[in-house]
Amino acid sequence: MPATAAPATFSSLRPAPAGRAVEILDQTRLPFAKAWIPLAHRDDAAHAIAAMQTRGAPLIGAVAAFGLALAMAEDASDANLAASTALLAATRPTAVNLAWALARLEALLRPLPPAARAEAAWVEAWAIAHEDAAQCAAIGTHGAARLLAEISGIDASSGNPIGTGTLAQAGSAATATAAPRPLNIMTHCNAGWLATVDHGTALAPIYRLHADGVPVHVWVSETRPRNQGLLTAWELAERDVPHTVIADNAAGLLMMQGRVDAVIVGADRIAANGDVANKVGTYLKALAARAHGVPFFVAAPVSTLDFACPAGSAIPIEERAGDELRQVPGRDDADRPATVRQLPAERPVANPAFDVTPAALVTALITERGVCPASGAGLAALYPERAGALPR
Ligand code: MRU
Repeated sequence: MPATAAPATFSSLRPAPAGRAVEILDQTRLPFAKAWIPLAHRDDAAHAIAAMQTRGAPLIGAVAAFGLALAMAEDASDANLAASTALLAATRPTAVNLAWALARLEALLRPLPPAARAEAAWVEAWAIAHEDAAQCAAIGTHGAARLLAEISGIDASSGNPIGTGTLAQAGSAATATAAPRPLNIMTHCNAGWLATVDHGTALAPIYRLHADGVPVHVWVSETRPRNQGLLTAWELAERDVPHTVIADNAAGLLMMQGRVDAVIVGADRIAANGDVANKVGTYLKALAARAHGVPFFVAAPVSTLDFACPAGSAIPIEERAGDELRQVPGRDDADRPATVRQLPAERPVANPAFDVTPAALVTALITERGVCPASGAGLAALYPERAGALPR
């Protein structure tokens, strides 16, 4: 496939109709309007990431890579390579995918003569995007099998690779023998195709189950203050996946009442010991899940694994603007975009955008290579080439 052509399944990111540029879906306008924004310059990409027009750990990694490619098209000098890498890396600190993508490009570009850098960067940025889509598809396959195994007691992952028939068979057995109702899966934030290049991380297994005819219902946590759960609801509605939006604070009650079979979330950074940074509120769900015996899964590609970070306590937590808490965007009665102020500008607020879930609360990690315990040993089993860097 030519490096400039994206596969038809790409959804959150696409080539611009003309020239060396890309377009992103403006996620600040969703779920009310579907608008594409062109990224033609480095600073367009940096602004889109910082302002969360584009968001989600794997996607901001890919967009940062395009940002560096755009920078090289304008000035491929050593000085601009260093300055642009630093500028893009500073846009958001928690999701390691961003630093990972920039480090990958910089390592490729630094030894090249400046005249060769723009082309090489463009090709590599598309490679990152293509890889992300393929890895998320694999997460869908592994995650679907594991969700069924956990919920129904059927080990759909043993033996042959998963096929459509295997999952559909396991799903009907699950509903016939265990519960004559859909599998009830809770998620937090948005970890679907909007947050990746395609497919999603936490939502990929749900899409796979749904496509295979397994009845699923998704509890979608609103995810205050930026309400990424509304993006998840929009995605699920687009694909006809049954779902119900809940206030974040309803999650514990639903688990206590036995109305949640499993929780699955994405991640912004997974430390070498299996601790997970994800959207703020994830930790509370993990605590409630443990208290009520509900399995808690974390789905993420290799670009989210930070083998150099020993534990969750070392993960930088992004603190975002207080107005995200003081104001609520939406639509007025005439269906026009509107923002409602809930608190005066001077009211002190704290807005940590992520939290850390200790590995001990995570039932398993689901990556493109399979499913493993959330631990150094678990990651070493899936990534033996990194085993030397991992705690046991
Ligand atoms: O602040 P956001 O919206 O970029 O945060 C996104 C999340 O926390 C997602 O859960 C995470 O990136 C997983 S993405 C597939």
